[in-house]
Amino acid sequence: MNIMFKKANKILMLMAFAALMITSCNNTKESYQDIAYFAMNEQGDLERPQDYRTWIYVGTPVTPNDMNGGKAAFPEFHNVYIDPQSYDYWKAKGEWREGTILVKELISVDSKIAASGNGYFMGEFIGLEATIKSKKHFPNEPGNWAYFSFTNPKGGDLANTGKAFATAQCNSCHNSSADDDFVFTQHYPVLIAAKGIGANVTPENAASRVSAEAKAYSDAGKWDAMAPTPENLTLEIPLDKEALFKYLASGKYRSYKNQEKELHPSLGPHQKLGLPVKVFINDILAESLDKNNDEHPLGSVIVKEMYDKDEIPAGWAVMAKTHDTSDGGNGWFWYEVTDSKDATKIAAIGNGVEGCVSCHASGRDMVRTAYPLK
Ligand code: HEC
Ligand code: HEC
Repeated sequence: MNIMFKKANKILMLMAFAALMITSCNNTKESYQDIAYFAMNEQGDLERPQDYRTWIYVGTPVTPNDMNGGKAAFPEFHNVYIDPQSYDYWKAKGEWREGTILVKELISVDSKIAASGNGYFMGEFIGLEATIKSKKHFPNEPGNWAYFSFTNPKGGDLANTGKAFATAQCNSCHNSSADDDFVFTQHYPVLIAAKGIGANVTPENAASRVSAEAKAYSDAGKWDAMAPTPENLTLEIPLDKEALFKYLASGKYRSYKNQEKELHPSLGPHQKLGLPVKVFINDILAESLDKNNDEHPLGSVIVKEMYDKDEIPAGWAVMAKTHDTSDGGNGWFWYEVTDSKDATKIAAIGNGVEGCVSCHASGRDMVRTAYPLK
């Protein structure tokens, strides 16, 4: 599709969306008042929330011991609930209101056999934790989020009140790893589906089982090229779709002197988080990385081999510098194919692919692999 047309389309969509937001805000203003689903006592401690099982249930992560070398940091099931007011606000605006509370109920992993097969099944209620966003109550906490536990480590009754933990104990990990303002929405499909979808929409009634976020992501053209790829440019790799796949399949890049010795888990989203990858860097780029340059020269090439969990080849991700300047990622050619035999399984191809650039922008001129290579 024509890029200009797409842009115009996008603007129209944004305008329609803005109009929708204004009307929906007017309609629901009343209900966004500061209705608190929690109470702090005179000592500034949180009173144990009641009735939270009638709130909105968002998901149940589990990190069992036997998948974590016998001792997981948090081995139990976590049933997570959010107060209904904050859920409505999240649907309307896609962010967390003052006074948001999420409660996490801890449940032991019990039997691993059921009539349906082997698995992880819930046992007993063993603990209760909560997190609250409130500028009023926690003006000095990062993001104004505070964290509480009512769990009795010896088992038995829960405490009636909880003190806020020190920032380093809970807040820091949530700050660095959670997707949405300290909340691990990436692990709660219910919240992903509801994010900013509209005040009066009920995502659970939609026939589509693809999340609103995933859909918005692809609709926005994140994986399309935003700048032209120069024609007739001769680099160490071909930039033509068929020729490039042939080149990769031939394994010629394996002759690059600079390459990782072994497969290692990827930090990025290439294939699935944590699957093995191996990076190869051509001489032009290696020299530039050695000099610690801010911009890498035209002709720089990196090839990343991707593997599945059984270490069978599962495609390639490629970056090649087609210009002297980076120009916010437009000066790089981006390519990813998620199959090592099927050239049509292309996830992205072209210059300035926004989805790639947005994540790579934090690297030194877009390069994210740790260098020197291990
Ligand atoms: C090492 C990282 C880490 C630390 C430290 C940590 N958490 Fe979490 N927390 C997570 C992850 C990951 C999730 C989502 C998945 C899960 O529940 O296992 C989560 C989810 C939660 C939730 C559900 C709402 C949300 O934000 O997603 C609460 C409540 C919570 N944690 C409380 C605490 C408390 C209280 C502490 C400190 C005692 C704490 N956490 C420390 C990683 C951490
Ligand atoms: C969510 C973040 C993220 C997105 C999106 C992303 N990458 Fe990456 N990429 C990384 C990280 C982190 C690395 C570092 C190596 C690793 O852990 O796999 C990396 C490494 C690479 C490498 C090896 C060279 C380097 O910079 O370290 C290539 C090539 C690459 N990515 C290409 C792509 C392409 C092409 C796209 C778009 C289709 C893309 N990436 C999208 C995070 C991302």
